[in-house]
Amino acid sequence: MEKLLRNSFMYLSKNKMLTKLAKKYGLRFGASRFVAGDTIERATKVIKDLNKQGLVVTLDFLGEFIEDEQEAYEMATNSIKAIEAIGNNDLQSQLSLKLTSMGLDISDEVVMKNMRRIMTVAKQQNVFVTIDMEDYSRCQRTIDIFKELKKEFNNIGTVLQAYLYRTVKDIEELNEFSPNLRLVKGAYKESPKVAFPEKKDVDENYKKIIKMHLLNGNFTAVATHDDAMIDYTKKLVKEHHIPKDQFEFQMLYGIRPEKQLELVKEGYSMRVYVPYGTDWYGYFMRRLAERPANVAFVLKGIMKR
Ligand code: FDA
Repeated sequence: MEKLLRNSFMYLSKNKMLTKLAKKYGLRFGASRFVAGDTIERATKVIKDLNKQGLVVTLDFLGEFIEDEQEAYEMATNSIKAIEAIGNNDLQSQLSLKLTSMGLDISDEVVMKNMRRIMTVAKQQNVFVTIDMEDYSRCQRTIDIFKELKKEFNNIGTVLQAYLYRTVKDIEELNEFSPNLRLVKGAYKESPKVAFPEKKDVDENYKKIIKMHLLNGNFTAVATHDDAMIDYTKKLVKEHHIPKDQFEFQMLYGIRPEKQLELVKEGYSMRVYVPYGTDWYGYFMRRLAERPANVAFVLKGIMKR
């Protein structure tokens, strides 16, 4: 049953017509639990509140299905506005973005042009930028673009996914760049030809890459809501005397907020991934797919209307 729900929400997340409708009608069905609002002003308010509680943030301007160069240009402009809001309001926040929103599926030239625009402003404003990792078909190009940009800008990182067989090799190969990496389990539906189908194997590989990257001396963001992975990291850093400024925990906005504050109280750096924007539908559906238990919140949201 859970698998069926999961697949249904993943399927719904890709529906272009529903995406357009959702954009038109604004945040609904309890989506505001996971999305900070539809404007940068609302997101700024949410970030200020999180910062007050000792949480740091990475801000993401949501965007799905970029079809032409103009749309990609506008997405980049919105990311630049987000960076400026971070700088102007002295927010403890970084920026996250997806290369498809910047034109990855249009051409290398378009995506590089948009990324250089963003990175130039991010450098001026001293804001760190993380390139999210998307599905397997885009993994190699994302890594190539990251490497290219890393030669020009130091304030950039990317994400590697524990469910992919290739990731251990990527960690080894990227080591020469001393990269700041966010490590995640992986959120897309992938073939067993490229990704571990069993959760226990993903978890084992996740522990393995956390250890490799930390012991290589690189900054590691452990982005998970899983207590087993959090406890593993705490034990590992203690055993190897890894300083607290070489790693952080990351979680998504609206997921396990009490655990986020607990980690802050214990003295760890805890970064919350805060998405905002009118294009909330796909992101919201993927959160429901991840944990169908969240559907209960949606149903409550609908009942209240
Ligand atoms: P998993 O889903 O395996 O759950 C393990 C356990 O964690 C559960 O059994 C439960 O105990 C606890 N848990 C999980 N969700 C919970 C909830 N809602 N409430 C209470 N307990 C919960 N993916 C990707 O492919 N590319 C990317 O760029 C990113 N970026 C990213 C950034 C950040 C900050 C985060 C936190 C995650 C991502 N992801 C991602 C998503 C990631 O790949 C993954 O899909 C989700 O984090 C879910 O996996 P978990 O590691 O949280 O544990």
